Amino acid sequence: MDNYSLLRHNTFGMDVSAKHFYEYSSVEELQGLIKSIPTDEQILHIGGGSNLLFTGNYDGTVLHSAIKGISITDETDDSILVRVGSGVVWDDFVAYCCEYNWGGVENLSLIPGEVGASAVQNIGAYGSEAKDTIVLVEAVELRSGQQRVLGNAECNYAYRQSIFKQELKGKYAITYVTYKLSKKPELKLNYGNIRSVLQGKENISISDVRQAIIDIRNAKLPDPSVQGNAGSFFMNPVVSREKFLSIQKDYPQMPFYEVEDGVKIPAGWMIEQCGWKGRALGRAGVHDKQALVLVNLGGATSDEIMALSDAVCKSVKDKFEIDIHPEVNFI
Ligand code: EPU
Repeated sequence: MDNYSLLRHNTFGMDVSAKHFYEYSSVEELQGLIKSIPTDEQILHIGGGSNLLFTGNYDGTVLHSAIKGISITDETDDSILVRVGSGVVWDDFVAYCCEYNWGGVENLSLIPGEVGASAVQNIGAYGSEAKDTIVLVEAVELRSGQQRVLGNAECNYAYRQSIFKQELKGKYAITYVTYKLSKKPELKLNYGNIRSVLQGKENISISDVRQAIIDIRNAKLPDPSVQGNAGSFFMNPVVSREKFLSIQKDYPQMPFYEVEDGVKIPAGWMIEQCGWKGRALGRAGVHDKQALVLVNLGGATSDEIMALSDAVCKSVKDKFEIDIHPEVNFI
């Protein structure tokens, strides 16, 4: 399709268009499409558009996977391997797993987007990350159409990072992801207020955890269908122990997480300390319940969102001498 509106394909609600747009439902269809795209044409592969900020019309071809299907590829008494089409809505897959009592992704309930993006972004929330369950990622090279299968280790997963955001950025379409889920799940209840939301409940099931996560998210995060947003706009920075201790002296109540290479400080907390929570610049705002999320207050342009992003980063730098970086991709 030519001059195709991308409004329905980005949760920030940017009213932009793509020169060409194609959706495919199989690997073969994708390979056929790739052959027809001129070699000098730029290609952008999108998922649910929940981590993108379009800064203008896209002068190239936008591809989107509509590969569906969830199938079991292997099973033992303890675990199950499930191969899922990249175009499956992520939360439909999570709901499916919870229905069958397969554990591993329940803490990732209600994350917007699609299965393909889970493998690119290494989506994470409430103590779980996609990388904890991903076994295989099937992909197609966007210029040659060649298929490739990557094991978990080859994907170089880290916090909100993967090979698909680094060396292979923009080079592959994810077609299928295989996850390993547990038939004897261990529930992860220690993050944030999961336990308190579940208080009083006995024999907690995977579906109870899913419901608790849904309730927590709904209370804090804006619904993109009501108010344009792309979830967390910034990543949480990791700082050295020395730096952390020096800030902690002034802010003993600062939340933090010890990680391998230092200490992670929630950017949302720093943004709130800078006084940005609930404030706006033009039609772009900082969400009033979770300062890590920037929202389109209605008709915001990408320039307004970027101006707010820059102002927030500058405030955090001035107050804490820490650089924070957008997690959202600017296109
Ligand atoms: N906090 C504040 N003020 C705020 C926001 C947070 O003080 O405005 C504090 C909270 O009180 C808490 C800490 O910061 O002590 C962490 O907050 P929260 O648990 O809400 O998580 P986060 O670090 O802000 C990350 C993910 C979210 C995910 C949550 C829950 C990133 C970039 N974001 O946010 O992911 O839902 O943890 O696990 O790591 C997303 O990627 O779009 C997303 C929403």
